[in-house]
Amino acid sequence: MEKQLQDFDTDAGTAPHELGKCVVSRRDFLLTASAATATFTVMVTLNPGSSLAQRVPAAVATYPRVLVGKLSELKVDEPVDFNYPDDKDYSESMLVKLGVEAGGGLGPERDVVAFNYICTHQGGPMQDTYSGKTKSLGPCPLHLSTYDLTRHGILISGQAYQSLPQVLLELEGDDIYAVGVFGLIFGRYDNLLG
Ligand code: FES
Repeated sequence: MEKQLQDFDTDAGTAPHELGKCVVSRRDFLLTASAATATFTVMVTLNPGSSLAQRVPAAVATYPRVLVGKLSELKVDEPVDFNYPDDKDYSESMLVKLGVEAGGGLGPERDVVAFNYICTHQGGPMQDTYSGKTKSLGPCPLHLSTYDLTRHGILISGQAYQSLPQVLLELEGDDIYAVGVFGLIFGRYDNLLG
C-alpha cells in the first residue's frame, strides 16, 4: 500500500547536540520513529572531539502511531478532534483539511494538517476557535494569541512566543496516522513523558 510521509522541510533539528552528538537528524529520527511503536536504540557520541569520545547506545522513546482519520471523510474547514500522543492533559488535538496548501500538508492537495489545541502561552484551550476564513486557530480565549495553520502554526498575533505544536502525519492508503509532534506541548517538559 502506498505511503505518504509529510514533507517537513526544516533544518531545525540537524544541529548536533551540545553534549552528545546524535548520529541521526531530527527529520530522519521522526521518519524512522514513525514506523515503530516502542522504544528503540540509536548510537550517540559522548564528548565528541575529545580523547574521551565514545559511542554508546541510547534508548529513545518513540511516538505511538495512531489512526486519527480517513482522508476521504475529511471536509474542508471541518476539524476532527483527537488526543495525541496520549490521553493525558494537554493532548487535545485537531486534524483539518484546510483547502489550501500548507506547510507539512498531507494528501494530493497537501492541505491536511494537524495541531495541538493548547495555546503555547499559558495553556488556553482553543477548541472551537478554528477559522476557515483565515486558516488559523484562535484567538485564544485568555490573551488572544492566534496561530497560522498554513505555516506550521506560527504566531500571527497575541502574547505567545512559540508556534503551536504540529502533529506529524503519515498517509497510508486512505488512513491518516499521527506519528509525532513537532514542538513542545504546553505544560509538558517532554511530549512523551508528561
Ligand atoms: S494563554 Fe493563550 S494567549 Fe495567553
